[in-house]
Amino acid sequence: KLKVVTLGGGSSYTPELIEGFIRRYDELPVTDYWLVDIDAGAEKLKIVGELAKRMVKKSGLPMTVHLTTHRNEALFDADFVTTQLRVGQQEARIHDEAIPLKYGVLGQETTGAGGFMKAQRTIPVLLDLCRDMERLCPEAWLINFTNPAGIVTEAIGKYSPIKTLGICSGANNMMMDIAGVYGVERRDVYARVMGLNHLIFADQIAVQGQDVTAEFIEKLAKSAGGSSLKNIPDIGLPPDFIRALGLFPLSYLKYFYLSREMVEHSLQDSKAHGTRGEQTREIERQLFEIYKNPQLESKPKELESRGGAYYSETACSIISSIYNDKKEIHVVNTPNRGATRDLDDESVVETNAMIDRQGAHPLAYGRLPVKIRGLIQSVKAFEELTIEAAVTGDYSTALMALSVHPLIPSVDIAGKILDEYLAVNRPFLPQY
Ligand code: G6P
Ligand code: MN
Repeated sequence: KLKVVTLGGGSSYTPELIEGFIRRYDELPVTDYWLVDIDAGAEKLKIVGELAKRMVKKSGLPMTVHLTTHRNEALFDADFVTTQLRVGQQEARIHDEAIPLKYGVLGQETTGAGGFMKAQRTIPVLLDLCRDMERLCPEAWLINFTNPAGIVTEAIGKYSPIKTLGICSGANNMMMDIAGVYGVERRDVYARVMGLNHLIFADQIAVQGQDVTAEFIEKLAKSAGGSSLKNIPDIGLPPDFIRALGLFPLSYLKYFYLSREMVEHSLQDSKAHGTRGEQTREIERQLFEIYKNPQLESKPKELESRGGAYYSETACSIISSIYNDKKEIHVVNTPNRGATRDLDDESVVETNAMIDRQGAHPLAYGRLPVKIRGLIQSVKAFEELTIEAAVTGDYSTALMALSVHPLIPSVDIAGKILDEYLAVNRPFLPQY
């Protein structure tokens, strides 16, 4: 018996995960798959859960899909727990994005102020989940996709004994971009990755075992690229900057390197089409209409318009590497533990790690190059203060978290954003 539980099971991403488990059944024979959501998500859980059941039925595999709003019933004796929940749903995301934008500050759900606010709502819920897991499935692995994934993973590592690692679709998307440029399969690509979640850089890029780093960076410079996540505006970095950097930055880095242009773009885009949260709320509405179709028995391609497209590939291959003690290398969010001496041991980094039954063993990286060191360290300071604020509910710590963030240019504005955030998020902040 292999029992997997997904919290936030009513998410529109669920078909992505189910497809991954079906595809990997040979190596990862999930017998019981539990989708859990809260009462407010029960309607969505039913729609996407019925689709999940049709997908499994079509596969003919002996996997049973269970739907429930009773978390503890699902957690009992679980082997793996995955999370993809969104405390406060899309409405809360829309506030996260819209409030900073009013002050001309980036409004994004994980980078900058938005990530702070999302962490304040999410960390208490995840720590509460961990306490339930301690009682009901203390040996289970918690595979966390809930954003801000790096921050949440660090909070769990610091405040809970539950085994965890954090995942993101970002690094895998970068590898797919490289594969696309070279016309090869994803598995033919390897790259070394280092940084924080949504703040990673790749180098030592190999295609079919050949180092192509310099060549790839030149191609990137010519195409003014960064990795192509669907949720990030496509504004090009200056070619000379890419050459000077000499590393392949995740698209989220544009928020730092082109901070003015990206805020300007967000302001215009949100005026014309609403914030990304308003857009995804609409995409989600359409997805659920599609999911309702009783003829549908597979993941619809429309799901690819979400930033987290293909995330099951990451999630399922990592779970399999743990379950089968495979010792494969994957990019995950895990405590640094010496991978670089430029960050504390307990600071969660996103980097290549060997994954086995004991979990993630990050590979040695060495010093962070000076050109990216300061940025990574200052965002880490923001993350650390964000976690402390989320756990204590201390106003001063929260204010400092926002004040040290490199994308929040005024401490006066940091305070205003914080006050507005706290006001609209009251129902989700028991700690404050
Ligand atoms: C990326 C990130 C995810 C994030 C998603 C947002 O893929 O890696 O962490 O959740 O984009 O996409 P959305 O479609 O919700 O804007
Ligand atoms: Mn991510």
